[in-house]
Amino acid sequence: MGNELDELKERLIKEAEGIKSQADLLKFKEKFLSRKKGEISLLFKRMPTIPPEERAEFGKRINQLKQLGEKLLKEAEERIKGERKRKGLIESIPDPTLPGIPRKIGAIHPIARTSHEIEEIFLRMGYDIEEGPEVESEFYNFEALNIPEYHPAREEQDTFFIRKGILLRTHTSPVQIRSMKKRRPPIRIIAPGRVYRRDEPDPTHTPMFYQIEGLVVDRGINFAHLKGTLETFLKALFGEETRVRFRPSYFPFTEPSAEVDISCPICGGKDPECRVCGGTGWIEILGSGMVHPRVLEAGGIDPVEYSGFAFGLGVDRISMLRAQLPDTRYHYENRIEFLEQLK
Ligand code: PHE
Repeated sequence: MGNELDELKERLIKEAEGIKSQADLLKFKEKFLSRKKGEISLLFKRMPTIPPEERAEFGKRINQLKQLGEKLLKEAEERIKGERKRKGLIESIPDPTLPGIPRKIGAIHPIARTSHEIEEIFLRMGYDIEEGPEVESEFYNFEALNIPEYHPAREEQDTFFIRKGILLRTHTSPVQIRSMKKRRPPIRIIAPGRVYRRDEPDPTHTPMFYQIEGLVVDRGINFAHLKGTLETFLKALFGEETRVRFRPSYFPFTEPSAEVDISCPICGGKDPECRVCGGTGWIEILGSGMVHPRVLEAGGIDPVEYSGFAFGLGVDRISMLRAQLPDTRYHYENRIEFLEQLK
C-alpha cells in the first residue's frame, strides 16, 4: 500500500512538470483529481477495505496526495499563464533592428514626363501654355478650323459625340481658336491635353491620347519661322544630331501644310532592319503649316494684317519612340512594373 502511494506521488510530480498547455492542465486534473474517476478520489473509496488500524495513516496520506495534486495543478496553471504573458509582451515590443516598411513613392508617368519636357523647351522659347476643354463644341473642333460638314474628318465614326453639337475633341487644334479669341497678337502658345477618337485600340492607337498644339500669330510670320522653330525644338528634344525633313501635306486649317519627319533617333538611318523606322531612316513626328486665313478670321484676327503657323504633335508617339515601346497601350495598363522601368 505504502509503495503504491509513493509511486503515485512520483507520477504526480513528474506529470505536473510535463504540463505545457491548457489542454495538459485539464488532462492532469481529470486523471488525478476528478471527483468520480480521478486516481486520488478512487483511493478515498477504498477506505472501507483498509484494516481499521491503518485507516488513519492511509487517510492522512491520501489527503496529503490530494493537497499535493491541487498544489501542483495550481503551480502549473500559474506557470502557463506567466509564459503566455511573457510571450505576448515580447511580441508587442517593436524590434528596432528590423528594416523599416518602405513607402511606395510614385513616379511621373512617361507621357506626363515627355509632355513636361516638351513644354519646358517651348517655355524657354517664350511660349505660354494654354488649355481648352476636352468636351468641346463641334464649332471649335471642326467648323472654325475650316473643316466643313462634308469633310471626311467629320465622320461620326471618328468622333465621340456627347450630344448634338457637343463632342470629345478629336485634336488640340480648337485651342488655336480659343487662344486667338482671348489674346491679341503677338500670340505664342502651346496647348497640351487629351484628345479622343473612336479608334479600335491596337499597338499604335488608343481611343484617348495626348497632343500638344502650337500656335504663333504675328505680323510677318512666314514658313521660315515655322521651319526654324520646329528644327530648334526637335533638336532640343531628340539631340543636336537629329535631321529634320518637311513633306508637303494637307490639313484643312493650314495652308500650306507639312508633315515633319526626324531622322530615326534609334538607328540614325543606318539600320535597314530597324524596328522603329522600318529601315526608312525617318519617323513622322508632327503635322504643321501656315494658319489658314479662314482660321485666323474665325479667331477674330485680320488675315491681311497677320499671319501665323501652327503645329500639332502626339505625345504618346514620342514617349513610345523614346522608350522604344512595342505597344502604346502599355502606357495605360497601370502596370507598376512597366512604369517603374521608365523612371
Ligand atoms: N490637328 C492635327 C491632327 O490632329 C495636327 C495639326 C495641328 C496639323 C496643327 C497642323 C497644324 O492631326
